[in-house]
Amino acid sequence: MLRKITDSIIYVGADDHELDLFEGQYAVPNGMAYNSYVILDDKTAVLDTIEQKKTAEWLANVEAALDGRPLDYLIVQHMEPDHSASIKSLIEKYPDVAVVGNKKTFQMIEQFFPGLAFAHTLVVADGEALELGRHTLTFLFAPMVHWPEVMMAYESSEKVLFSADAFGKFGALDRDEDWACEARRYYIGIVGKYGAQVQNVLKRVEALAIDIICPLHGPTLDSGLDDYFNLYDIWSGYQPETKGVCICYTSVYGNTEKAVRLLETELSKLGVEHIAVNDLARCDMAEAVEDAFRYDRLVLATTTYNSDIFPFMKQFIDHLTERNFQNRTLAFIENGSWAPAAMKKMQKYLAEAKALRILENNVTIKSALNEESTRQVLALAAELAAYTEQAHDAGGEDTAGGKANDNAGSDVSGSNGEDSAAENASPKGFVCNICGYVFEGDVLPDDFTCPLCGRGVADFSPVES
Ligand code: FEO
Repeated sequence: MLRKITDSIIYVGADDHELDLFEGQYAVPNGMAYNSYVILDDKTAVLDTIEQKKTAEWLANVEAALDGRPLDYLIVQHMEPDHSASIKSLIEKYPDVAVVGNKKTFQMIEQFFPGLAFAHTLVVADGEALELGRHTLTFLFAPMVHWPEVMMAYESSEKVLFSADAFGKFGALDRDEDWACEARRYYIGIVGKYGAQVQNVLKRVEALAIDIICPLHGPTLDSGLDDYFNLYDIWSGYQPETKGVCICYTSVYGNTEKAVRLLETELSKLGVEHIAVNDLARCDMAEAVEDAFRYDRLVLATTTYNSDIFPFMKQFIDHLTERNFQNRTLAFIENGSWAPAAMKKMQKYLAEAKALRILENNVTIKSALNEESTRQVLALAAELAAYTEQAHDAGGEDTAGGKANDNAGSDVSGSNGEDSAAENASPKGFVCNICGYVFEGDVLPDDFTCPLCGRGVADFSPVES
């Protein structure tokens, strides 16, 4: 696909509709776009290569965009193979091109392409600029957004941010669909663990004058940019985006599902506007994870199974904790025919999650709903619904009467809900200046070394909150 972004910046990427799972796990029913850009000036540059099976199409696009001119620079923002797989093919076609990256970029190039030689290389530092003529690219390192070597590039003459994976989404460019839905599933799934690092880079790019964002996936963004920045701030700050209830469940014989459907009906009757229900055995797990991060309240419903919990629920909670799930209000529905233990197990698996508020009216079902467990479901519905109304009426005050997770970083019950939630979500600790790893804690031990890149305390800075 060849398309002008501006008179001198040309899109040369490709859509992929044959892909079943992006990164080996994410369903992409509307395909995927691998973006790449050519800049034409006194010097020419291409920003990032492309996934291997699109190499031929992409090389033809680059050639057409250059229109007979030589290629001076290959800028490598990200080494994940959906963007780097065609580096060798590009070098073979344009052997005199100078490859531009940082130290980590070139380490990874050697790992992915052992022995690949270049005629010219340019190793850049964070904040360093590359003049192409009228255009100037300034490189902004964005470690762990989403790999350690990632860097963005800001082009100042046309106010364009080449944002690497940030602001990308699932879906090919020839499909018209809502941006936020698939950008949220993409962000939470792929970058969700690295909220502190995203917050750090957001602070840097928000200080720039930006008219256009060119990500490595998804559409070019050229209007309403504040809305996109705001969503990224919410997501990376682990703040709920939408007031609503997400219910995620597993059900073996349908009895737990009956309780979930009763809860859904009651919540609807009580005026809860947004209710998302996910059967974890049958839904796209990434959609359920997205919903859990999107809404402010989460209900988990499952059975005791082999002295543990049903496998899909265990897997789901693992997806949440792996992505630093935090700062939400939770309730539980458990079902067991002789020794219900699912509630304790779910709480145990969530023990490391910060700032969870557990509601009072949880539900225990023994085999099937009866009078007592039905009463518990109705009480839970009332508490969940009231939580919303009271939070609104009190200007964000948490009056749920819930108790904070015993292992939470701080007890938020009785505090000003939304404001304190934002405070609790603020990153605390020390960030590795080399790779972006974040150490959480007030004191960084003198002998600490980064588990990602092995650097010592001299390379760490306090996380700005
Ligand atoms: Fe689009 Fe992190 O690769």
